[in-house]
Amino acid sequence: MSKYAFITGATSGIGLATAKALAAGGYDLALAARNEGKLSSVKADIEKEFSVKVTPYVLDVREPEEIRKTVAACLAAFGAPDVLVNDAGLARGLEPYAETKEEDILQMIDTNIKGLFLVTRAFLPSMLERNSGHVVNLGSTAGLYAYAGAAVYCSTKAAVKTFSDGIRIDVIDSDIKVTTIQPGIVHTPFSEVRFHGDKKRAEAVYEGVDALHAEDIADIIAFAVSRPKRVQISDIVIMANQQATGFMVSKKKKQ
Ligand SMILES: NC(=O)c1ccc[n+]([C@@H]2O[C@H](COP(=O)([O-])OP(=O)(O)OC[C@H]3O[C@@H](n4cnc5c(N)ncnc54)[C@H](OP(=O)(O)O)[C@@H]3O)[C@@H](O)[C@H]2O)c1
Repeated sequence: MSKYAFITGATSGIGLATAKALAAGGYDLALAARNEGKLSSVKADIEKEFSVKVTPYVLDVREPEEIRKTVAACLAAFGAPDVLVNDAGLARGLEPYAETKEEDILQMIDTNIKGLFLVTRAFLPSMLERNSGHVVNLGSTAGLYAYAGAAVYCSTKAAVKTFSDGIRIDVIDSDIKVTTIQPGIVHTPFSEVRFHGDKKRAEAVYEGVDALHAEDIADIIAFAVSRPKRVQISDIVIMANQQATGFMVSKKKKQ
């Protein structure tokens, strides 16, 4: 591979749009997610549309052993990634914390924090050895401003922001860059996942709101990773035009 990006959560929403945006920029891709069928169809679609090579990895980022094996295979095949996008993440439920299910709490922590930390831990030594690479972590405005029913999700995204700031310090003597992307409301399957497959409830979140598109975030990630070597974008916060601090959205100005 000439230059390549490893992207978790690459079969849907922001991760998928980022895969396409980076393919358009000439990156070969190593794409990870849990659903093998979706990975295969994403590989076929991207290789049809762009002249890049796509290598799929079935990976559940909650499983440390799977991470170790996947990253070892990827490093053996392609070496250190030029770009690592830690996108895999999710919210589960929107209840007051006292009613939040334990399994939902654990899934958010294990995916959004543990998975992201361990995928980064697995790749970072190879990037340091080569003295190059860009780690892009998907935080959220939820990590900056808590909102009702989302104490755990918001905390996991605050952890992503702090983690990014911490590793940026640890790699300061290297040429590695670390960027936290903090989107507001983006219309993706995110809410459907949050509401355990309840499409009607999920769609109601976006009704009357001109929400961001996954491609809006992907464009910004492509921009961040294509800056000159001297430029490191530490954080980007992107809200919908009808959004303000946190989860405050105006549903009055329907487009
Ligand atoms: N949508 C928003 O409004 C919004 C706003 C701010 C931040 N974000 C963040 O952006 C990221 C992407 O969200 P999205 O809106 O694009 O959601 P999405 O459309 O639901 O995509 C999530 C992706 O993560 C993968 N994934 C979930 N659990 C995984 C696991 N345990 N191991 C590996 N892959 C896993 C999913 O594939 P599989 O299910 O096949 O594994 C899917 O490819 C998340 O970190 C989210 O917190 C989203």
